[in-house]
Amino acid sequence: MHADDAGREGLSGGSTLLTEAREADRTRPYAEGDPILEVRGLVKHYPLTRGILFKKQIGAVRAVDGVDFDLAAGETLGIVGESGCGKSTVAKMLVHLEPPTGGVIRYKGEDVTKLSGRALKAVRRNIQMVFQDPYTSLNPRMTVGDIIGEPYEIHPEVAPKGSRRQKVQDLLDVVGLNPEYINRYPHQFSGGQRQRIGIARGLALNPEIIVADEPVSALDVSVQAQVVNLLDRLQAEFSLSFVFIAHDLSIVRHISDRVGVMYLGRIVEVGTDEEIYDHPTHPYTQALLSAVPVPDPSAREHRERIILHGDVPSPANIPSGCRFRTRCWKAQERCEREVPLLAVPAVFRDSGTPARHDSACHFAEEKRVVPPEERREGPGAAGEAQPHPPDEDTPGSGGTDEGGGEGR
Ligand SMILES: Nc1ncnc2c1ncn2[C@@H]1O[C@H](COP(=O)(O)OP(=O)(O)O)[C@@H](O)[C@H]1O
Ligand code: SF4
Ligand SMILES: [Mg+2]
Repeated sequence: MHADDAGREGLSGGSTLLTEAREADRTRPYAEGDPILEVRGLVKHYPLTRGILFKKQIGAVRAVDGVDFDLAAGETLGIVGESGCGKSTVAKMLVHLEPPTGGVIRYKGEDVTKLSGRALKAVRRNIQMVFQDPYTSLNPRMTVGDIIGEPYEIHPEVAPKGSRRQKVQDLLDVVGLNPEYINRYPHQFSGGQRQRIGIARGLALNPEIIVADEPVSALDVSVQAQVVNLLDRLQAEFSLSFVFIAHDLSIVRHISDRVGVMYLGRIVEVGTDEEIYDHPTHPYTQALLSAVPVPDPSAREHRERIILHGDVPSPANIPSGCRFRTRCWKAQERCEREVPLLAVPAVFRDSGTPARHDSACHFAEEKRVVPPEERREGPGAAGEAQPHPPDEDTPGSGGTDEGGGEGR
């Protein structure tokens, strides 16, 4: 049992209620293993214009430039990449906050980019987002009850007026906050607690998919594991499918079934947890892994650090051929001419080893960067049953911390 789950047995009433509600809402049952979400050739280009009165397009910011992935029902897909790689733009397109420039997002087999009106509203309900920054994403003038219950204004069918207060209190309970705090304001909570409020709001409509965009990046390191634990537990409890975005591979390692590594608008390598962490074949993934903190000093000494030079190039000016070539230590002439496709590299096609997974590199090679026994001990080790301190990042909030989940 996770530390996050400690003492929560008595709180399962709310969760059962939500699960039942969701099961009743389902119109189309899904066979196990069917992808709930299929993303194909997803593109978002922002036009670059010049001129004030007569705007002339002079180029485009290719924020997302052809992203493909599947999300199985009940699966957690981690998406990782440096800042500016297009992760948030993918997230916004998945939850319909941004229209794609091209490509397909199929939810249960239906292309939702073509939907409008009532059909779109129904789909949007099932795909919810948890935002990166709990300090700016919650309206400071609204009570926690109003924030979490706000989605019911748009979808009153999920919770008729008379039942809303109880529903919101159930949700507070589910995310480890005291249901009596329903009338408090965001500033009365710590960062971790605010993110729990954001998560409760994400759950309000009983969604099937949660897109969490760097949900712990803005939080204190001491609180990050608690929130990751909470998401992990909720994922299992509500059979949620998760897209979990992070800029650091160490955050998603314990929560993800599969991980996609993104670079400059594309996924460059994707595979299971074991394939990506123990058998990475793309130089970018290997470089990211070499930057993952290793707690054991002797292991740290023996580990090879791959230093990436320079910054991510501008998405308005993507390099020809392999988009990673300007920073890749293995780049050759072919890399400048030919775009490597995201597929199993020919050298591994018949290998039968975990190196046999999709990697967009002409010269894919296995390189174990982090020994497997170490990678389970990292600071973001969400799965460990160690007692966590309660959220401690409250700036003099009048003792609201006791409502913070594990500490309660
Ligand atoms: N509305 C916008 N107009 C122009 N460029 C944008 C817009 N939103 C994002 N971008 C650019 O798209 C790229 C990807 O951004 P983003 O998806 O936020 O990356 P990430 O979340 O991985 O840090 C960045 O270069 C960013 O500056
Ligand atoms: S295709 Fe070439 S430049 Fe791109 S990652 Fe592979 S070796 Fe590096
Ligand atoms: Mg982002």
